[in-house]
Amino acid sequence: MPTLQHCKRRIGALLLFCAATPACADSSFLTSAVPQNLNDFYQGLKDRVASCQHSLAGGFYSIDDGTNTTSYCTNDPHRPSIIYLSSGNGTLSNMDIDCDGVQGGSQDDGRCSLGRSPDYQDATAFQDIIQSYKVGISDLNTYVHPYVVFGNSGSKPGWRTFDPTDYGVRPLSVMAVVCPGNKLVYGIWGDTNGDDGDNPMVGEVSIALATACWGKNMTGDNGYDGMDVLYVAFTGKDAVPGKNGADWAAKDYDTFERSIQPLGEKLVQRMRAGGVGRKVTGFGAVVGCALAGGLWLAL
Ligand SMILES: *[C@@H]1O[C@H](CO)[C@@H](O)[C@H](O)[C@H]1NC(C)=O
Ligand SMILES: *[C@@H]1O[C@H](CO)[C@@H](O)[C@H](O)[C@H]1NC(C)=O
Ligand SMILES: *[C@@H]1O[C@H](CO)[C@@H](O)[C@H](O)[C@H]1NC(C)=O
Repeated sequence: MPTLQHCKRRIGALLLFCAATPACADSSFLTSAVPQNLNDFYQGLKDRVASCQHSLAGGFYSIDDGTNTTSYCTNDPHRPSIIYLSSGNGTLSNMDIDCDGVQGGSQDDGRCSLGRSPDYQDATAFQDIIQSYKVGISDLNTYVHPYVVFGNSGSKPGWRTFDPTDYGVRPLSVMAVVCPGNKLVYGIWGDTNGDDGDNPMVGEVSIALATACWGKNMTGDNGYDGMDVLYVAFTGKDAVPGKNGADWAAKDYDTFERSIQPLGEKLVQRMRAGGVGRKVTGFGAVVGCALAGGLWLAL
């Protein structure tokens, strides 16, 4: 018969094991370490070694009562392979919370409930495509799917707009989101910013994604205010997992995130050393590698 003392020891050991094992603690949401090439890119922007390489559209706001200095930037205006947000002078974007789409499920703890999300809408932008997948879900779930709100639409006079599809970014493609503290979350381009507020805003994600970066202090009306989050979208059809390339019907964030990680890793790897979106072979590879150290900024 195990004694009480014995049981206490067993439980203590189990708790210690759990603390050391991210998968064991149910409060931990899966993130990846930021690979070197992406981290160099991120740090370069933050340290003002690099800036918006080519602005595709500017005049957006990351903070509502802030300045209109956020731009959609690309590595190459003629053949863009990535599009990212930059606000100039070493600042990137903050992270607000979007509760749109479906709620409910085992991870719905009320942090996105209606009263906490002033601009809640019951559908995300690409709901039609999700439904066409016929995978048993009617829309993205903010507690499960790490979606990013990217692109700006609106019809108010003088309203700034930007449509990422004009540059080859496809709906429901995988994105990379870098949060400070060496956290990379692979997200899905799942919603767009509308013209319901006073300003054309950027920098919003589902509560699942925000929780992965910051923890459960994120709620529908409380995001992260620092201007050091990097959002990267990838052009082309290889960035789209499609019906079968992601576990759309996953019941929890970790399961979904795990299902898009391999594709995300491939896309981020493509950002390496001069060869974004293109295969660098033969002589190009030799030169590319030789210059890689210094030229990662040129992507
Ligand atoms: C930012 O706002 C200022 C003042 O309202 C305006 O003059 C300027 O054109 C705006 N910049 C962009 C890029 O939209
Ligand atoms: C740029 O950022 C630095 C450091 O944060 C700050 O001291 C400086 O005033 C900023 N410059 C402009 C033009 O905003
Ligand atoms: C959320 O909580 C974490 C851990 O307690 C803390 O490090 C972080 O600064 C908080 N973030 C925000 C935006 O409140």
